[in-house]
Amino acid sequence: MLASIRTLLLVGLSTGSAAQVNTSDNAYFEHLERYWTYGRSPPVYPSPNTTGSGDWTTAVSQARALVAQMTLAEKENVTMGFTNAEFNGCNGKSGGVPRLGFPGYCLNNAENGVGGAEGVNAYPAAVHMGASWNRELAYTRGMHMGREFRRKGVNVALGPSLGPLGRSPKGGRNWEGPSNDPYLTGVLIHDTTAGMQKYVMTNLKHIVGNEQETSRKYPRFLPAPNRNTSISSNIDDKTMHELYLWPFMDALRAGAASVMCSYQRVNNSDACQNSKVLNGLLKTELGFNGFVVSDWFMQQSGVASALAGLDMVMPVAPYWTDGNLTNMVQNGSVPMTRLDDMVTRILAPWYKIESQADDGGQPGYGIPASLTQPHRFVDARSPDSKPVILQSAMEGHVLVKNVNNALPLKKPKFISIFGYDAAGQLMNTAEVAGFNLWKMGMRNTLQFLNGTTFTAAALDLMFGSSMEQTTTGPEIALNGTLFTGGGSGAVVGAIDAPLDAFKRRAYDDDTYLAWDIQTPNPVVNAASEACLVFINAQGSESWDRRNLSDAYSDGIVKSVASQCNNTMVVIHSVGVRIVDEWFDHPNITAVVLGHLPGQDSGRALVELMYGRQSFSGRLPYTVAKKESDYGHLLDPVLPSDDTAFYPQSNFTEGVYIDYKHFEKEGIEPRFAFGFGLTYTDFEYSGLQILTDSTATASRLPPNPDVILQGGVVSLWEEVARVRVTVENVGDVAAKEVAQLYLGIPGGPAKVLRGFEKQLLVPGERGVFEFPLTRRDLSAWNVVEQQWELQRGTYQVSVGKSVVDIQLSDSFEITDA
Ligand SMILES: *[C@@H]1O[C@H](CO)[C@@H](O)[C@H](O)[C@H]1NC(C)=O
Ligand SMILES: *[C@@H]1O[C@H](CO)[C@@H](O)[C@H](O)[C@H]1NC(C)=O
Ligand SMILES: *[C@@H]1O[C@H](CO)[C@@H](O)[C@H](O)[C@H]1NC(C)=O
Ligand SMILES: *[C@@H]1O[C@H](CO)[C@@H](O)[C@H](O)[C@H]1NC(C)=O
Ligand SMILES: *[C@@H]1O[C@H](CO)[C@@H](O)[C@H](O)[C@H]1NC(C)=O
Ligand SMILES: *[C@@H]1O[C@H](CO)[C@@H](O)[C@H](O)[C@H]1NC(C)=O
Ligand SMILES: *[C@@H]1O[C@H](CO)[C@@H](O)[C@H](O)[C@H]1NC(C)=O
Ligand SMILES: *[C@@H]1O[C@H](CO)[C@@H](O)[C@H](O)[C@H]1NC(C)=O
Ligand SMILES: *[C@@H]1O[C@H](CO)[C@@H](O)[C@H](O)[C@H]1NC(C)=O
Ligand SMILES: *[C@@H]1O[C@H](CO)[C@@H](O)[C@H](O)[C@H]1NC(C)=O
Ligand SMILES: *[C@@H]1O[C@H](CO)[C@@H](O)[C@H](O)[C@H]1NC(C)=O
Ligand SMILES: *[C@@H]1O[C@H](CO)[C@@H](O)[C@H](O)[C@H]1NC(C)=O
Repeated sequence: MLASIRTLLLVGLSTGSAAQVNTSDNAYFEHLERYWTYGRSPPVYPSPNTTGSGDWTTAVSQARALVAQMTLAEKENVTMGFTNAEFNGCNGKSGGVPRLGFPGYCLNNAENGVGGAEGVNAYPAAVHMGASWNRELAYTRGMHMGREFRRKGVNVALGPSLGPLGRSPKGGRNWEGPSNDPYLTGVLIHDTTAGMQKYVMTNLKHIVGNEQETSRKYPRFLPAPNRNTSISSNIDDKTMHELYLWPFMDALRAGAASVMCSYQRVNNSDACQNSKVLNGLLKTELGFNGFVVSDWFMQQSGVASALAGLDMVMPVAPYWTDGNLTNMVQNGSVPMTRLDDMVTRILAPWYKIESQADDGGQPGYGIPASLTQPHRFVDARSPDSKPVILQSAMEGHVLVKNVNNALPLKKPKFISIFGYDAAGQLMNTAEVAGFNLWKMGMRNTLQFLNGTTFTAAALDLMFGSSMEQTTTGPEIALNGTLFTGGGSGAVVGAIDAPLDAFKRRAYDDDTYLAWDIQTPNPVVNAASEACLVFINAQGSESWDRRNLSDAYSDGIVKSVASQCNNTMVVIHSVGVRIVDEWFDHPNITAVVLGHLPGQDSGRALVELMYGRQSFSGRLPYTVAKKESDYGHLLDPVLPSDDTAFYPQSNFTEGVYIDYKHFEKEGIEPRFAFGFGLTYTDFEYSGLQILTDSTATASRLPPNPDVILQGGVVSLWEEVARVRVTVENVGDVAAKEVAQLYLGIPGGPAKVLRGFEKQLLVPGERGVFEFPLTRRDLSAWNVVEQQWELQRGTYQVSVGKSVVDIQLSDSFEITDA
């Protein structure tokens, strides 16, 4: 039926190439819009009220009581942003109700520390946290960051990020989340959310399917008529649940106060007015109690977005402002109960979270409108954050090559350092107010490899998807060590660059240090005992990466390696960096994937390379030998003639991204998911599997109507447990990350379903345990619309990476 309506619509269209289309022909585009947007995403109405379930009950009733005292104009006010700069420089400022003492919110970037601010710490990026596989650090990093937001007067921190998940290795925002594995992301973001919310409301972004930056939104800055639409992520229900929505369940369960809907479309319906996503998946199935805020400048309709479940619009509300939302309520287009629910959802977390927090003063207290005008300096840092930041920086470094114990360094007499990534950027201070490279974390990214200057103006256009969609920013940061990715998730601060830290250490050890970080073909002093080469791979919000390696950086590595038989390469990177151009070079003795370490980059690296602590990072994604190994996932979808003006990204691979793709296709990766070396060896033994046959007796979760934020409560009941013993059989203390992969009947051969990190001293044996919940063992049943335990044989593999399996066994789940 729907298909035939679509066929009818299509018959009325000229299907000629986009180049021939008369873009002033409104009738043509109205047809096109109806063709693409009609009937592809199921309608879910009405928008459910917050239930105030679980530990939200008190806060929701307090919020309801305040809403009951509000006038219509006051209610409307709370749902939208104001750009009045006299308030402060927060990225978003929501309306308050002064009469009733509600001040409104300061919403500010982002997920790796307070964005674009002074007096704050630059934490390691989320992908770095992902590489640490450390739950405790995820929590403490979150808590210390949260406290800085609070001290700055930020009410809503615009993070953490868990979508994009990282479907494509080139995705420009992948680094803003921990991993492209939903389980690893879910666990680490759960703990991050819990930590941050000790002090500040979190904002889970972006729901859902924001898997490419290319065509992420309509071209905002191109002149009208401007017909291009954002990319549509076409995701089937099973993949949605088992992959992209999975980590949202964990983060919601941790109590997240708000969620940001994403720029792109889902099944051709804008994510910020997609009723299936917002009313259906988020507010009904996952029992979300807080508010949904639009991604910036992404409200696309007035009545439709309100009814589809959008609660707050940022930074301004083009369709709701100036009494329009009030009109919609008065003329019956939007029920008053919907508006009441919007405001209740917005206010409830204020009661729930702010009441526990230190008083940071008024919203935006420490975020002045301009850092170059006189203002009060609010130092949000605290000395007790330093060990957390340093340890987080250390644990996200992954050692991937170490020949004959080249590392740790043993007080060499002479070290030479090379590569543009070794030293810090020349400028770290506020630029003019508004959009600038410093705020976006890119004062180290000032030009392209061909010499062309990279400007904030170009970046701004890319933010608005208003350049030809093949346009990218620079592939590498030539003007200073890479410590963050670019865009709204970036942090800025006093960066301890690798060269700074090696100078300090060399001074202490009386090591002679030489360097050339300028020349692409440096001359190596033949007396060097070790040659360290620093390169990077940049990425940012607003564009997807062009390549996963670059010839310029590879050239520096090869040049040094040809002259130095103890060459060690350190790569700072937003994600996958292919290394096959030189990885097997006999003179390359060590390789470190250093990710995005934040402000303690140099300090952390020196600790590790000199063996004061052992490397303990593991890759949170797969590094291929060559780009084509990623198949069709490699590149973003570009606007094309066959779907003119409506670019379509069809997630036909289902859950088979990253290591699941490599395993399914039998492709050997360069570095497997979960891989990382250290300075000792571990032996695994004693695999035990304990299943609870009473708990697994029911195929579907018991009490499916008992839903707390995060989903059906019984999904979190433990139904099995796996246990192994790991012994440190080497000479130094180090942390091991034991990983549990399951083969769920009917699913991929291996999916991560448990991990644990423990420090073991030489000779020590540790018991590693992996509790398995009902959800961990279930697959999404699209007919039942429920998680279902499978009947049959579950394969259990425990190892050091997805390919380095040490112990395996299986268990059965059968009908009782
Ligand atoms: C394009 O369409 C508009 C609106 O129908 C019409 O006025 C205009 O003449 C058309 N231009 C061309 C070149 O056909
Ligand atoms: C998208 O379409 C697929 C296929 O029709 C369907 O399974 C899924 O539920 C839809 N999801 C949304 C959010 O519309
Ligand atoms: C929301 O709550 C109000 C007040 O109790 C009620 O009138 C309305 O029907 C509810 N809306 C939905 C969708 O249940
Ligand atoms: C709306 O919010 C703004 C900003 O907080 C505030 O100045 C204004 O007084 C509010 N309006 C009403 C009607 O409360
Ligand atoms: C909003 O309301 C104002 C004043 O009533 C009106 O001029 C404007 O056209 C409305 N905007 C929209 C998008 O409806
Ligand atoms: C109700 O008001 C809104 C906002 O002013 C307007 O867009 C809409 O067309 C109105 N609907 C009716 C039925 O009057
Ligand atoms: C340099 O590269 C950039 C980015 O690819 C491109 O926009 C620019 O046109 C190039 N400039 C020259 C002089 O080739
Ligand atoms: C950025 O780095 C490039 C390459 O080293 C250099 O040519 C350029 O002068 C640097 N730009 C600035 C402003 O320092
Ligand atoms: C390795 O380095 C030595 C200098 O130490 C150099 O003579 C030799 O050619 C290099 N080997 C290769 C394969 O480049
Ligand atoms: C590098 O070459 C020097 C001088 O020939 C030699 O002493 C040293 O052992 C070599 N180092 C490695 C790591 O092969
Ligand atoms: C707009 O869409 C057309 C047709 O699909 C495409 O050729 C063009 O590249 C797109 N432009 C932008 C800026 O996305
Ligand atoms: C993606 O799906 C859309 C809608 O079903 C279809 O028109 C388009 O051709 C598909 N694209 C590809 C590359 O298969």
